Amino acid sequence: MSVSYYDGRRRTVLTNQKHLFSLPDGEHYLNCAYMSPTPKTVVEAGIGGIMRKAAPSGIHADDFFRDNETVRQLFARLIGASAPERVAIVPAASYGIATVARNLAFARGQNIVVADGQFPSNVYAWREAARRHGVDLRTVTPPEHVQRGEEWTTRVIEAVDSETVVVASAPVHWTDGTCFDLEAIGARARDCDAAFVVDGTQAVGAMPFDVARVQPDALVCAGYKWLLGPYSVGLAYYGPRFDGGIPLEEGWAARRGSDDFRRLIDYQDDYHPGALRYDVGERSNFVLMPMLLAALEQVLAWDLQDVQAYCHAITTDLFDAVRDLGFGVESDEWRAGHLFGLHAPARVDLEAVKRQLQARKVSVSLRGSAIRVSPHVYNDASDVAALLDVLRDHVGHDA
Ligand SMILES: Cc1ncc(COP(=O)(O)O)c(C=O)c1O
Repeated sequence: MSVSYYDGRRRTVLTNQKHLFSLPDGEHYLNCAYMSPTPKTVVEAGIGGIMRKAAPSGIHADDFFRDNETVRQLFARLIGASAPERVAIVPAASYGIATVARNLAFARGQNIVVADGQFPSNVYAWREAARRHGVDLRTVTPPEHVQRGEEWTTRVIEAVDSETVVVASAPVHWTDGTCFDLEAIGARARDCDAAFVVDGTQAVGAMPFDVARVQPDALVCAGYKWLLGPYSVGLAYYGPRFDGGIPLEEGWAARRGSDDFRRLIDYQDDYHPGALRYDVGERSNFVLMPMLLAALEQVLAWDLQDVQAYCHAITTDLFDAVRDLGFGVESDEWRAGHLFGLHAPARVDLEAVKRQLQARKVSVSLRGSAIRVSPHVYNDASDVAALLDVLRDHVGHDA
């Protein structure tokens, strides 16, 4: 078993991309897993959207459809989906996952399998489904040791059986970047005829994701992190399992023929085919859609293997150094390049480390026992060195 994104031999061909962003000099923003800085082109697209609505006579019926069609096409290309009609526009990951939960049939005695400690948007929907339908929520805990990706994947696979309705997972764990072997988990879900739902928020846009290989029934991504988009808009892929489903809302745009504004009150019984029925109401947001479109164009301009190689290249010295300081780190093969946790030794006061990091303008997140570091192509080795300085300094004092 292995994860396919790590290729330690690949040399980065990407150069630093900070010029595409407006990050202030002197700040070390290693926190894209919290939210991405917005690329300049995306900011411009947002301002353009605000200005269009300031004088709306220039907004025509076509404009309700054009950008979101392009967004679907770009996202489908990014994830290798067969058609843009497989992509829905969602306001949040929680919405995309609630859509899945709404469209699964549960019977008493069945079960739901989730990896422990996932982001709440991929947990609460399942807790609620378990409570409402009287099914068992199987939360799969990781092994105690820090190098846990392979064994955790095995445990998830072993938890799936013929009574499993849905397996909810993610390519990388949001707290520390532990990778899961989604192809292996997906194969097990298919063997058991369970739906396979992936929260791609902390991976898609930063590392390659191929729907054809992973074969999820649904893939849901908030847009404001690695997709480089604005807040309050995300994207979801729904496979054929959900073709006949019922959306959370009953918006006009979800119905067949909704592009003919003169006939909107010829009410339709049929939804649009594919995933379009799952779009959020007012999906044609004239500010957010152009921003998301520009963001996806930027993401697609990079080869995501190169993004991973770039992140590995600027962090490679960090790992030996932090291990010497007593931090636990996942193995190279089971750790994402763009998101990883440094598990501090018990003696370290993480709140004190946080204060010192803030003072040095190093932005990372504390999640559980891990310092979560999430670099991107606007970072360079000096950002990582600033982080290491603080850790050395602090752990040195603390030891
Ligand atoms: C893995 C993961 N999923 C989803 C989200 C965001 O969820 P939502 O869009 O429902 O707010 C986050 C935010 O940190 C996350 O880390």
